[in-house]
Amino acid sequence: MKVDFKNCMVDINKDYSEELNKFLTLFSPIRETIYKEEVEEEFHDEILVIGMGGSILGTETIYYALNPECKAIFLDNTDPESTLRKIKSLENPKVYVVSKSGNTLETLINYKLVKEKVKVKEFIFITNGGKLLEIAKKNNYRVLNIPEEVPGRYSVFTAVGKAPLSAMGVDVKRLLKGAKALDQIDEKHEAIKNAIIHYLHEREGRDISVLFTYVEALTYFGEWYKQLVGESLGKNGLGITPLLSIGAKDQHSLLQLYLDGKKDKVITFLTVDNYREDVEIEFENAKKYSEIIKAEKLATEKALTNRGVPNITVELKEVCEEELGSLLYFYMIQVAFMGVLYNINPFNQPAVEEEKRICWSILRK
Ligand code: PA5
Repeated sequence: MKVDFKNCMVDINKDYSEELNKFLTLFSPIRETIYKEEVEEEFHDEILVIGMGGSILGTETIYYALNPECKAIFLDNTDPESTLRKIKSLENPKVYVVSKSGNTLETLINYKLVKEKVKVKEFIFITNGGKLLEIAKKNNYRVLNIPEEVPGRYSVFTAVGKAPLSAMGVDVKRLLKGAKALDQIDEKHEAIKNAIIHYLHEREGRDISVLFTYVEALTYFGEWYKQLVGESLGKNGLGITPLLSIGAKDQHSLLQLYLDGKKDKVITFLTVDNYREDVEIEFENAKKYSEIIKAEKLATEKALTNRGVPNITVELKEVCEEELGSLLYFYMIQVAFMGVLYNINPFNQPAVEEEKRICWSILRK
């Protein structure tokens, strides 16, 4: 993975060593997760994962990026139409029910629905307590735990991600190898620099962070990124607003706004050096199909730079386990360090609890 800051348009050469020390203490439980390889599940060709937010988005991101042989279905919503369509397609899945608290409404109802409507090979619960742990004990289900001090959206390298992904045939060791490659965390670390860049721009009113992916396989990574940024940093009137764009097609949709609209954005291009599939085709100077999208990205980068819109490029060698491990770990470091810069807790989401309380009271009326 390579990060190019040449168009970042901000000076980051202040001393942040105090913040870095605070961050290293805060981040150490998450750091430990990348050195534990104990969870390895037996492959099954049909996997269902039930969970919400940090309990499922990391697994979805990696599954959709790698597209392994296994058929995997994810239940992380309560829209009857899409949920019922998904469960109707299932034959005999191994089911991972993932919830750290064990009390998340959507996860509880989707478990009940699957229990009643699907012929299940095995239920595995990844939880630490609540109603789900009670259900697991009553039914004698296998239970895996999550380290208590690792928050949901930073938990993809615990059993939360490792168990379902290994059952899908993803090489989890390679994923961890990618994360470990970025684990020399000092003030020169690119994720720390990226945090400072986004923080300084936000202080100047550029508080929208656009993730512009030129790799469609990473679209779901955008969902993970939005949740990580939104829940971690949206506190006390602070934070940055994450936005997802897909290149090249959004050049014909949102790019006008990015180029000539309000100057409140920092763009991050997400690209790959090698697309896993490509074909030779002659068009103008291009000799390969992938050269078109690369030219389009470069043109967008130049146009934005000409207009004074700060932009950064994160380039993966290709979409593979190692690079995905690096990518997710990079953003965990960046966002948690931004929490330290803002002096807020990047690991909780207290405002969301209010909605949960109101919803339970509506359901129980
Ligand atoms: O990042 C977080 O902590 C949250 O998004 C949680 O993962 C989400 O609310 C689901 O919680 P739980 O794992 O307790 O079901």
